[in-house]
Amino acid sequence: MAKTKTSFVCRDCGNVQPKWMGKCPDCGAWDALERFTESSDAASGPAPGALGLAPETDGPRTPRRATPIADVKPLDVPRVPTGIVEFDRVLGGGIVPGSVSLLGGDPGIGKSTLLLQAAAALAGRGRTVLYATSEESAAQVKMRADRLDGSADAVRGRNLLLLAEPNLAVIVEEARRTSPDFLVLDSIQLAYRGDIDAVPGSLQQLRRCCLDLVTLAKTSGTAVAIVGHVTKEGDLAGPKLLEHLVDVVLAFEGDRHHAYRVVRAVKNRFGSTQELGLFEMSGTGLAEVEEATLAAESAPATKGSPAARRAGTVFAPLQAGSRVLLAEIQALTATGFLGAAKRRASGLDAARLAMLIAVLEKHGGLRLGDQDVYASALGGMRITEPAADLATALAIAGAFYERGAGPATVALGEIALSGDVRTVRQLDQRVQTAVRRGARLLLVPAAQASAARAVAGGADVVPIAHVRDAIEHLA
Ligand code: TYD
Ligand code: MG
Repeated sequence: MAKTKTSFVCRDCGNVQPKWMGKCPDCGAWDALERFTESSDAASGPAPGALGLAPETDGPRTPRRATPIADVKPLDVPRVPTGIVEFDRVLGGGIVPGSVSLLGGDPGIGKSTLLLQAAAALAGRGRTVLYATSEESAAQVKMRADRLDGSADAVRGRNLLLLAEPNLAVIVEEARRTSPDFLVLDSIQLAYRGDIDAVPGSLQQLRRCCLDLVTLAKTSGTAVAIVGHVTKEGDLAGPKLLEHLVDVVLAFEGDRHHAYRVVRAVKNRFGSTQELGLFEMSGTGLAEVEEATLAAESAPATKGSPAARRAGTVFAPLQAGSRVLLAEIQALTATGFLGAAKRRASGLDAARLAMLIAVLEKHGGLRLGDQDVYASALGGMRITEPAADLATALAIAGAFYERGAGPATVALGEIALSGDVRTVRQLDQRVQTAVRRGARLLLVPAAQASAARAVAGGADVVPIAHVRDAIEHLA
């Protein structure tokens, strides 16, 4: 008889407590602890090999002897590109057979659309795909597939199999029967195992369903993608537990009301977590956003437009994985109440914005005490890099003085509390991208001016040592 161990797991932070409590002592969430029973009988869990990285079909496992690192053969990770370049980029080149990925994101962000597009793309390339949905009917999925760009082949063909079923045992059985290259489960929150006495979405169900899919992937070589919902706080629901079990955790971010949506790898056993995939929701599904389109969308000020119209708008070349994107930062100042002035950031860090406002007051000569300040990164981008400081400060100063930074100007630099402008990483790539995208004038940290000139081509480079110098450049 297998022994069982009961513990209580917090739905929000995933930490384990020995007994039930009304409030999680680790994250402070109320009524978030859930009973969790686990069998200590090893035989009832998945086979040890089932959780390893390599599918068991790989042949004999390496003997359990320590080997000098020089003698260890590198793992040759096979990848199946979906052909959706932005998605493949985040995955590290394509879907890895036998891997399990978890895709999280707010409702309506496009999780089902993205995975259906990836499924259709793979099916169109001759792969077998099983798309299991616990949330929608097969007809609903077909209706969506019909409107997707690039899915015509898959919709006419016989490689894309749909299964509307919340019972995980049935899904796994169908996967064993049809042995697909790619299995999608949308979503794990509504899937359940009949033999577990807990409601769908509970930690017990989530964990067991996820483990079943991991076992399926590792033993069959099928790549599995699971949709997971997120909590109010933006974490995957039930999740820390699941994040440990899967190979890849992807977050689908962005604002439903903004054009750009970003897929980011939070964890990736087969690739970098620095990469981003950029998409835009269109009438025919998610369209990939390449650099070229971004450039057209937000090219630094069209020629001849009055500087005043650009007041409060500055561009900054920011790092996004292996790419540089030109971010458009806007600010607005409006008369508010002294002592109760509002500071609002959208797409920017609020604490950083407050700090920049203080620096502009103290060292830039701006009187912002009774000014409401709004600053935002356009297009739904989320900026965390301090390299955006100078552009943000210039946008605020521009809005305050109603002066523009001039057309085709980009600014780059981290601002210290003293107002000094500090250097940024990967200057070359940022400058080159900005110039290629039409920048004519670059405000850069003084210490990096000569390095910037070396790669700036015909564009003018202005060294900025202090935030005051930059403000003088507003016309
Ligand atoms: P969906 O993929 O269902 O989001 P999620 O699975 O993350 O909840 O779709 C998100 C929204 O996108 C939905 O409200 C409808 C819209 N949409 C389009 O604008 N164009 C399209 O081609 C599709 C398929 C959806
Ligand atoms: Mg959905």
